[in-house]
Amino acid sequence: MASWLFFGFVVLLLGWSTAKCSSVPDGVVHMECHDRYFVIAVDSSFTGGEPHFDAVDETGIYPITPRYAAKCGYTMVPLSDHVELRASYFSCHTDNQDDTLFTFNFNMIVTHEEKEVAYELNSTCSPSLSWSPREVTCELNYMEVSVRSEVSCPSGTMKDDWNALKTAYSSTTSDWQVMFHRAEEQLQPMSLSEARKQDYVFEVTGGRLVFRTPYGQRNSVLTEVNDVPVEMVHATLFSRQSWVVLMVDMVAACSKFNGSSDDAGHVVWKTPEALYASLDTTQLNIGLGGERVSQPVATERGYVLEMHNGIIQISIPTSSEGGRRKSFVRDNLYEFYTFDFYLEQILEDEDRVETRLWSHRMLTTPLLPLPLPVVAENQTDPEKRAFSVYLGDLPEDVELMAVQINGHELTMPTSNTSTYTITRVVHPNSTHGYSLKVPFNDPVVIYEFSKEDAVYRCELGLNFTLIVLPEKKSFYHFETIVTFLTDISPPVFDAFCSDSGISFKLDHQPLDYLWEISVGSDPLTSDLAARHGYVMSNDSQSLQLHAPLFTPGYRYKNITLKGFLGTFEILVQNRITSELQSSTVKTCSFNTTGELIVCSTDGRMVVVANLSQAVPSGGIPARTSLRNRNCGPKDADDTMALFSFPLNVCGSSIKIGKGNVTYQNEISYNKKYVDNNDSVVAEAPQRVIVQCTYHLAGLHRLFSAFRFESDTAGAGAIVRTARTDADVQSSTTTTAAVQTTPAAYGPRIPRMLLRAFPPRQNLGHSRVQLNMI
Ligand SMILES: *[C@@H]1O[C@H](CO)[C@@H](O)[C@H](O)[C@H]1NC(C)=O
Ligand SMILES: *[C@@H]1O[C@H](CO)[C@@H](O)[C@H](O)[C@H]1NC(C)=O
Ligand SMILES: *[C@@H]1O[C@H](CO)[C@@H](O)[C@H](O)[C@H]1NC(C)=O
Ligand SMILES: *[C@@H]1O[C@H](CO)[C@@H](O)[C@H](O)[C@H]1NC(C)=O
Ligand SMILES: *[C@@H]1O[C@H](CO)[C@@H](O)[C@H](O)[C@H]1NC(C)=O
Ligand SMILES: *[C@@H]1O[C@H](CO)[C@@H](O)[C@H](O)[C@H]1NC(C)=O
Ligand SMILES: *[C@@H]1O[C@H](CO)[C@@H](O)[C@H](O)[C@H]1NC(C)=O
Ligand SMILES: *[C@@H]1O[C@H](CO)[C@@H](O)[C@H](O)[C@H]1NC(C)=O
Ligand SMILES: *[C@@H]1O[C@H](CO)[C@@H](O)[C@H](O)[C@H]1NC(C)=O
Ligand SMILES: *[C@@H]1O[C@H](CO)[C@@H](O)[C@H](O)[C@H]1NC(C)=O
Ligand SMILES: *[C@@H]1O[C@H](CO)[C@@H](O)[C@H](O)[C@H]1NC(C)=O
Ligand SMILES: *[C@@H]1O[C@H](CO)[C@@H](O)[C@H](O)[C@H]1NC(C)=O
Repeated sequence: MASWLFFGFVVLLLGWSTAKCSSVPDGVVHMECHDRYFVIAVDSSFTGGEPHFDAVDETGIYPITPRYAAKCGYTMVPLSDHVELRASYFSCHTDNQDDTLFTFNFNMIVTHEEKEVAYELNSTCSPSLSWSPREVTCELNYMEVSVRSEVSCPSGTMKDDWNALKTAYSSTTSDWQVMFHRAEEQLQPMSLSEARKQDYVFEVTGGRLVFRTPYGQRNSVLTEVNDVPVEMVHATLFSRQSWVVLMVDMVAACSKFNGSSDDAGHVVWKTPEALYASLDTTQLNIGLGGERVSQPVATERGYVLEMHNGIIQISIPTSSEGGRRKSFVRDNLYEFYTFDFYLEQILEDEDRVETRLWSHRMLTTPLLPLPLPVVAENQTDPEKRAFSVYLGDLPEDVELMAVQINGHELTMPTSNTSTYTITRVVHPNSTHGYSLKVPFNDPVVIYEFSKEDAVYRCELGLNFTLIVLPEKKSFYHFETIVTFLTDISPPVFDAFCSDSGISFKLDHQPLDYLWEISVGSDPLTSDLAARHGYVMSNDSQSLQLHAPLFTPGYRYKNITLKGFLGTFEILVQNRITSELQSSTVKTCSFNTTGELIVCSTDGRMVVVANLSQAVPSGGIPARTSLRNRNCGPKDADDTMALFSFPLNVCGSSIKIGKGNVTYQNEISYNKKYVDNNDSVVAEAPQRVIVQCTYHLAGLHRLFSAFRFESDTAGAGAIVRTARTDADVQSSTTTTAAVQTTPAAYGPRIPRMLLRAFPPRQNLGHSRVQLNMI
């Protein structure tokens, strides 16, 4: 996690065009004065990416890069919701007036809509806490020591003359040399400017001498004090002024303990009690998030401060408030806490000279499992006819990006046009979740029908894509929700008779789509309706279908000259099993208002024909017959006659065409009445031929079982032709060729073609013999 510390630094390239902007929106940048440093906190929501900063003074503008920060006393601390810049009061470009008034001028550069915008800002602080003779700051990225330039010398060996030192320093720095010590080794002295090139900074302020070094420098010494790693830099400044040699010893020492965690769920940090010479027990203060925490508060939060064996140990419970939590994805979702704290130690040496040591640390807990794992909870209530799934509880920094529902991708935020809904549920404890609702009848739901148990298994495979902010690392949560539905009943139509046909109405139900509605073997679609002449309307409320009389799908029964029964059937099939679930059969009686011919699947022809032109003047339809004179009408009135007979009797002729077979007969005035009744003199003007055509393919039973049973009803036709003289002879013989091609009908001649689909139940069958002529 240490690598984060500096991710906010970006080197400003020369010539980079940056828009200048003087004022930042209110509440975005918070500047605070702490005891020993400025704090500039910038809302992450404002900066978008990571902001970067320039330190500004009268000599120029200095981009704060990670290396420059460590050298010059700046620290960038990226936190979950903001970025913090800490600038030491002794940082390189801070204006210092008598170590009491500090002014930091800086530019903050943020990227807005891919354009860099710079804000000129400044902060002025006057710390209330007075400076101790020696102050040491162990920052995250550097060590800084400052000593008062006027120190009384109780041992009396030599009167310190810092004023002289200061003069000498400011006149010609080259006179001053610094010598680093490593273990017992004394290194070659170098000039202060040479040291600065190596990132060691020495400065003289109004009343103090400051030394700062990044960690891990060449002249650092790493040691251990009771197993606690310590980094130390020991520098001696000296100047030779004629015969007087001035020497100042500067030691920067900091604990480099990285932090650890113990079994009790605490993060632990350690530092030697006496990094600097100390006489009495040290005085300790803890600061959290930059604020000093009083002892009772620290105790209340569960912090434990222990001192033994020369080591100070701080234990912070991972659950304690003040830690910043962060989600982390690694195979699964975890969280960790970061504690940004400092320890202030006040030490006194044997001369009662006080040293104040500030140790800043960011402690990170190991990856911890979430208190409650993320689950997709099945809250489905079958009564509500919808799946209900709650995904949660998610920490604040985790968001739902998308969800795949049985493979259908749905990205957030969802449009509200879809039938499923996702709503974000926020809890007061700053967790949140998502509630997903998918109606059972949504096409994404996968259904399976179990025949044994007679239940529907409805499955919802959910794959949630979640991201951790701000780095947007994604992870998935997969869950399969299954529910069983037993009470699914097929839709039921209402049916009504009307003069012109039969009407059906279905009020839509949520699960309608599980069923397939068909007429005969054809699924009911608007296309089928158009082809067959049905009138269909389908809106969100209901489906309405009107089947006009004589359209395909009708069956006819009890045909008389007065009326007949028409039956229309709508089938409902299980879409999954293709099993027939129900049918709505409606039979209505209709008045016979004109001609009709029915060729039933069991091989019977029923004809109602207008014979007004087919009987000779003075004759009546009741005296007509088929080719076989014994086959007279079942009923007749002044103009109409009803014939009903098996196809292959009464002198029918059979004609086999390509793929179909046609049974044909003719209705004519019975000659025996012509002979016996003198008043009938003339021939009838019209011949009336009745015929039924069946598809051969549908008649396979005729050849296998010798039974007439067609898969489909035959197509009937009543064909009229004007009688010619030639017909007078030929009409008496049944072998005469009959013209049945449509072209011969003539436009004036009425014709009716009726089709009917096979009835579901077997309407009995007659055994026929196919007489091939
Ligand atoms: C500091 O900022 C304030 C506005 O925030 C401005 O009025 C003032 O001039 C600035 N001072 C310097 C020295 O830039
Ligand atoms: C502390 O952590 C850093 C990086 O995480 C590592 O390089 C260093 O060796 C660690 N120091 C000690 C003393 O464990
Ligand atoms: C759908 O969204 C639009 C605007 O986004 C809103 O006006 C409308 O009320 C929403 N409809 C429903 C049913 O939520
Ligand atoms: C947060 O609140 C929700 C709803 O009250 C609850 O279900 C959940 O357990 C809480 N989470 C934690 C971590 O306390
Ligand atoms: C979930 O979706 C992601 C991305 O599409 C895929 O990589 C992952 O395998 C999916 N998980 C499951 C269990 O289907
Ligand atoms: C989901 O909840 C429904 C209704 O309570 C229940 O019938 C079903 O078995 C549950 N499914 C799973 C996978 O828990
Ligand atoms: C009727 O409309 C519904 C949608 O409103 C649709 O699901 C159904 O398939 C339609 N039925 C037919 C027969 O077109
Ligand atoms: C139809 O005819 C059958 C006999 O063929 C008879 O039993 C039935 O009552 C008739 N139906 C009607 C409505 O006349
Ligand atoms: C059908 O016939 C009956 C009596 O035969 C009659 O009352 C009724 O009005 C007729 N319907 C139509 C539509 O002609
Ligand atoms: C029979 O046909 C004649 C003309 O060909 C017509 O005048 C008569 O109205 C028809 N009868 C019926 C009942 O349709
Ligand atoms: C002969 O025809 C007349 C009228 O066309 C009819 O009244 C009479 O009953 C018929 N005679 C026979 C024997 O059918
Ligand atoms: C029967 O077959 C013949 C020859 O293929 C064809 O011309 C005729 O249209 C067919 N009739 C019917 C009703 O399909």
